Amino acid sequence: MGQRRAAITALGTYVPERVVTNADLAKIVDTSDEWIRTRTGIEKRHYVEPGTPTSVIAAKAAAEALRRRGIGADELDLIIVATVTPDMLFPATGCLVQNLVGAKRAWAFDVSAACSGFVYALTTGAQFIETGRHAKVMVIGADVMTSILDYQDRTTCVLFGDAAGAVLLEPREDGSGILDFAHEVDGSGACYLQMPAGGSLRPASRETVDARLHYIKQQGPHVFKYAVRKFADISEQILHRNGFTGTDVDLFVAHQANIRIIDAAQQRMGLPDSKVIKNIREYGNTTAATIPLALNTALDQKLIAPGHLVLLAAVGAGFTVGSVLMRWSGVSWD
Ligand SMILES: CC(C)(COP(=O)(O)OP(=O)(O)OC[C@H]1O[C@@H](n2cnc3c(N)ncnc32)[C@H](O)[C@@H]1OP(=O)(O)O)[C@@H](O)C(=O)NCCC(=O)NCCS
Repeated sequence: MGQRRAAITALGTYVPERVVTNADLAKIVDTSDEWIRTRTGIEKRHYVEPGTPTSVIAAKAAAEALRRRGIGADELDLIIVATVTPDMLFPATGCLVQNLVGAKRAWAFDVSAACSGFVYALTTGAQFIETGRHAKVMVIGADVMTSILDYQDRTTCVLFGDAAGAVLLEPREDGSGILDFAHEVDGSGACYLQMPAGGSLRPASRETVDARLHYIKQQGPHVFKYAVRKFADISEQILHRNGFTGTDVDLFVAHQANIRIIDAAQQRMGLPDSKVIKNIREYGNTTAATIPLALNTALDQKLIAPGHLVLLAAVGAGFTVGSVLMRWSGVSWD
């Protein structure tokens, strides 16, 4: 028997039906379809109906993954939810999802790593599988970004959409599964991308609401430069230490924040278009959900097959940087 590794064995996503195009946004914000498309690669995004919380879309994605795998929620040992838009500060959204899906035996918690949230949660979940402590871990990336978007800030509100994605992790001993991860944090970058109020530093008050501090704030160009450098650095680092180069990668699944950031990483690794997933056009940046949505696109387009070397990479608020290298195991799919 080979080494026990954590492998993705099922995937489910939930994308809200409501589509908001760049032209729709241009009716309420001083922007244009042309600017958004050329500067970001985004053409549309999906929004939940107002009032829909993250737990509900996360539970829908998890239920889809369970259905595809053909198992009940009561078989889950652990649920990890990566999100920056929890239903509330506490209890954790993972607890709410546990109740919604009826995962009676599972414990649950949240991971806060913004756009790197899914890869951080995946890495965390994998540890419980590798040690033999758990056999079924549901890892979910879900965000209702519309709950923290400021439509008076055209530089950020055009970038984001709502969605959820869930993967089931199970043990495999056939060489497939997660091979390695490389994560980094640079907390000095916290000021460049954050939601300033609503926590213990600036509890909600009339002043924080008046100053619009309960919305996402980003210094776009600074984050852009950091992300371009870090996507490529972290990807090269994890490949190198596992004895691979860009040419060994069968599929590069990057967090979808800006098409120009993905293009730059692709170029530096020398990857052809056929090995890089880009679906930002359709969904915008859905924060913790982008990587499972991108895996979904890869499965839909039959770009991923058992045995493939798959590289995930993300950069997010924190700053958080993450990459996961895996040998694809094949998933229950329909
Ligand atoms: C946000 C982002 C798209 C902005 O693109 P940019 O090329 O850096 O653009 P800038 O912010 O320098 O703005 C350029 C001009 O476009 C204008 N502009 C900004 N947003 C606009 C919009 N939605 N519509 C039209 N014009 C806009 C700016 O006001 C500026 O005008 P000026 O030159 O007259 O001052 C880009 O910086 C980005 O993608 N950053 C990283 C985002 C990210 O990855 N976040 C998630 C974490 S990984």
